[in-house]
Amino acid sequence: MARIPQQLIDEIREKANIVDVVGQYVQLKKAGKNYSGLCPFHNEKTPSFSVAEDKQFYHCFGCGRGGNVFGFLQEIEGISFPEAVAKVADLENIPLAQEYREASTEAVVNTQQRQLIALHEKAQEVYHHMLVNTAVGEQALAYLHERGLSDELISDFGIGFAPNQRQFLEQVFQNEGFDRQLYPESGLFVVRDDASVADRFYQRIMFPIRNPQGKTIGFSGRFFATAAFPGEDQPKYLNSPETELFNKRMILFNFDKARNPIRKENTVFLFEGFMDVIAAWQAGVKNGIASMGTSLTQQQISAVERLADTMVICYDGDNAGIEATQRAIGLVTENSPMKVAIIRIPDGLDPDEYVQKFGSEAFAQLAQHGRETIFSFQLDYYRRKFNLANENDQLAYVETVLKELTKVDSLIQQDHYLTQLANEFHLQRETLQQQLRSLKQAKKTTRVATRQTPTTADYAYDAPPPMEFEGDSYAGLSQANAPQTPRRPLTQGERAEQQLLFRLFGEPRLLYRLQEAELVFLHEDYQEIYRLFTEFYESRGAFEVAAFLDFLEDQEIKNKVINIATLTMPEESTEQEIRALLRVLYKTRLADEINEKVIRQQEAGRVGNTQRELELAVEIINLRKQLKQTDIF
Ligand code: UTP
Ligand code: MN
Repeated sequence: MARIPQQLIDEIREKANIVDVVGQYVQLKKAGKNYSGLCPFHNEKTPSFSVAEDKQFYHCFGCGRGGNVFGFLQEIEGISFPEAVAKVADLENIPLAQEYREASTEAVVNTQQRQLIALHEKAQEVYHHMLVNTAVGEQALAYLHERGLSDELISDFGIGFAPNQRQFLEQVFQNEGFDRQLYPESGLFVVRDDASVADRFYQRIMFPIRNPQGKTIGFSGRFFATAAFPGEDQPKYLNSPETELFNKRMILFNFDKARNPIRKENTVFLFEGFMDVIAAWQAGVKNGIASMGTSLTQQQISAVERLADTMVICYDGDNAGIEATQRAIGLVTENSPMKVAIIRIPDGLDPDEYVQKFGSEAFAQLAQHGRETIFSFQLDYYRRKFNLANENDQLAYVETVLKELTKVDSLIQQDHYLTQLANEFHLQRETLQQQLRSLKQAKKTTRVATRQTPTTADYAYDAPPPMEFEGDSYAGLSQANAPQTPRRPLTQGERAEQQLLFRLFGEPRLLYRLQEAELVFLHEDYQEIYRLFTEFYESRGAFEVAAFLDFLEDQEIKNKVINIATLTMPEESTEQEIRALLRVLYKTRLADEINEKVIRQQEAGRVGNTQRELELAVEIINLRKQLKQTDIF
């Protein structure tokens, strides 16, 4: 249980060479004094990942991740700091006493927790055995097969069967010699008034719920009705109660298995039920998770947001699912920089039913191509709340959705939707634009007044807080001017926007390089900063952040500029870096445009406009081709 002494940590870090460690995961090529390769943390075709051997750290210009050898292992293996230290020690053959290892296998797990995990692992093992190897589990196994679950999947997910006996687990545990005192806290038993215990789960198909390290810490049991035991009064699903191990606000079903796929795809799928996660997994969508019978929480969002830029909400297609989607959108957009996309399952089905009805291939297609933007979802969501045959309702509807449109900060999208609304309701596009502008202005004023300080308490789970910024204040600026914007992880695109502006501030002559590349930013605010920078620099022939701040009027913009100026980046830019950053912007823009067109194509399909659908298909194919080209800039 001992903490690893700092001296030993330093020794291990100094003996190790980050190039060797990273080299086991990434193909590195020497480029000058550094090494470069394809970033393992996001999908890319041209290398923007670089390892500095002299400084012993890595950095990706594409997604902005960076750190030392321990940080690299934590990130790529999803392990704790002490675990990463132990791993490096092993790789470098540096002896590390067992006392530090014990502490390091599960940093925060105490003895009681370890014993509780042992109970759950044992229970999982015997339930699984009952399902796949015994006559008792035969019918349940047939049922799962009928639902389309393969043997491989059943074993991958460790699914089991709890027989119809109340002393089954108790017997097993007794033979194992487990400490009976643990039974009540385990949640696997119910304790009767006379202090005797009985199995909580019986006659149920058992789905293990694992912690981020892949250890079973709870179960959800689906009642399995038979002729002998119809069990009409039994709940469909029975979950483990809250225990020291099992915190429903924290737990995400399948997070351990999905972590790497989420990172690779840069996307996380959020489902309503864990059967949906399993069905999606079987259909090849392996980056899916679900909360456990509760609505999504802030902690759960924090656990995934460092792994992916995009969350796809794929809830049930019924009314309840649509309302839950709207709530989840609010929670994610207000608390996280993740982009949100929505998949609406047709005919009120849930994802699992969709797979059963239309097959895995159809679901995989839907997961890939059936995504909607938040705003497109909300156009329909609010449509259901108003009677659009009535003119007053029409106006109220337009007002409501314009308010939502203020949250869309992609210039491409705003433009598209304004036109669409103007056309549908025969309104002047100019008028709508004007209204949108004043709504935005109103929002800014209230936002400044109610802004809250960021909370870092929720970075629990295995995600350490983001480290984008070096200090809290910027030399030369008074505290009053210091940025108040929450320091949250950014999307890859936004990070690149900030990094480019940072470079411009430090090396203003880069402006000509960027103008030559016809740089256009993704977000309004950054485009505005770029425009103001150009105006400032071209009129004065020099640039300094402090002077620039006096030139700026909008407080929001000022804060952004300060945030950018306090970024940490290598001292001087290189052409390689600038190119990597421009590439990120260019590709993000293309990807946004493709998404936009895909939605319009689907709309055209729905209303039967085949001509338009085909035109868009051709445009999409061309854009996709451009996206694949690697050597731009
Ligand atoms: P659903 O009832 O939509 O489950 O509940 P499902 O995934 O479609 O299950 P199948 O297809 O009938 O087997 C969604 C989620 O709500 C929680 C569970 O976490 C479930 O995954 N739930 C549901 C409960 O906790 N208890 C219940 O009785 C029902
Ligand atoms: Mn279902």
